[in-house]
Amino acid sequence: MKILVLGQGAREHAIIKSLIRTGTPAANIFAAPGNAGIAEDAQTFATLDPNSPTDVTAFAKEHGIDLVVIGPEAPLVTGVSDALRAEGIAVFGPSQKAAQLEGSKSFAKEVMAAADVPTGMARECRTIDEVASALDDLGAPYVVKADGLAAGKGVIVTDDREAALDHARKFIDMGILVEEFLDGQEVSLFFLSDGVSVQALTPAQDYKRAYDGDAGPNTGGMGAYSPLPWLPEGFVEEVERTVAMPTILEMARLGAPFVGLLYCGLIITKRGIRVIEFNARFGDPETQVVLRRLVTPLAELLHKAAIGQLQGAPVARFAKNVAITVVLASEGYPDSSAPNRPITGLTEAESNEHIEIAHAATRLEGDELMATGGRVLSVISMAETFHHAREHAYKAIEKIHLKGSHYRKDIAKKVADADNDGKPGNDSEGNN
Ligand code: AMP
Ligand code: GLY
Repeated sequence: MKILVLGQGAREHAIIKSLIRTGTPAANIFAAPGNAGIAEDAQTFATLDPNSPTDVTAFAKEHGIDLVVIGPEAPLVTGVSDALRAEGIAVFGPSQKAAQLEGSKSFAKEVMAAADVPTGMARECRTIDEVASALDDLGAPYVVKADGLAAGKGVIVTDDREAALDHARKFIDMGILVEEFLDGQEVSLFFLSDGVSVQALTPAQDYKRAYDGDAGPNTGGMGAYSPLPWLPEGFVEEVERTVAMPTILEMARLGAPFVGLLYCGLIITKRGIRVIEFNARFGDPETQVVLRRLVTPLAELLHKAAIGQLQGAPVARFAKNVAITVVLASEGYPDSSAPNRPITGLTEAESNEHIEIAHAATRLEGDELMATGGRVLSVISMAETFHHAREHAYKAIEKIHLKGSHYRKDIAKKVADADNDGKPGNDSEGNN
């Protein structure tokens, strides 16, 4: 099977590494536009615009692609999936209409209301006066969300009413959602969907804030770990039953079947599980740890979902070993972007068998590897315990040199501290 992966982040690199690890020959993997790391594992086509429905379709036909896997949200928004499907090419990624589950928070709320999916109470606002009164009605801490794609910058959670209003002013043209504050542990749980059924992958936790101790601004994600040994028994099944399946069935009822990856962003509150967001794609950096542990052929899982036969697919299995990922970000991230700078030490860092490195913002200039700003790479570490996974990850990342770069030192720290009997967090192979 020839597979084209669209995107250029560490998520796409992790998808490609997982395809290869679970049996797809590297020679059958194409990537566009890719990055310097992806180019080492697959054939990259840097000039193919992943957001152009006509260009991607023409490329897929010309190269006899059997499956297109869409990494980021942008190609979903421009209708790349729709164009491929219209040509009979299998694609793992929802239609433009179904991707609204991520692109429009008010649409997602409507779907959840119709499907009786538990989520935070929210008020849709069109004016700043409406926002002000919603803030007063729902109370502090205030949660204000832009009702559209805002590159991870659309949400603010704050006790400062003025900051909440300022945030709303910035995004008022998109529409604003003021949501009740939900308190609890966050979980990212991915489901493969073929439009009528789902299959859960393994839960992960993301570190959204820029600095240790969850300080600083929100980012795309600074690290992740999987599995989550502290989850209650039956958690995955409950989310499948109360969130994923009802959502998929409602999307089908609306005539917008969801084929692709349903990312459920969840909070476990005292009153139960609540959805804080849906995404229509694999999460970054959670994918780096989830797929690191996958042992079932990924190509078959994605292809079966894409062609509406997920129920005939094997059950996704995950290694007992735990995985963590630490994101190396360039100077100033997420507030400002750094100039391109050389990055060295990767070969040494990767020489440890526990370590894999997924590239994000990297580019070869001549023989020199350059970091091009933002999140530069994900160091992925797998071991028997979180304690060991952390040791390997941090030893590796210290070998990498990029001027001004930063990373969080507390990824999976709490769970490693709890893991003091030296056993893995999860003692059975399964989807927990
Ligand atoms: P979102 O883009 O909707 O995932 O929001 C970004 C982050 O803001 C989430 O990962 C949470 O940490 C936080 N957040 C979003 N909604 C809420 C909420 N209702 N209550 C508390 N925190 C929230
Ligand atoms: N890590 C959060 C996201 O992918 O949206």
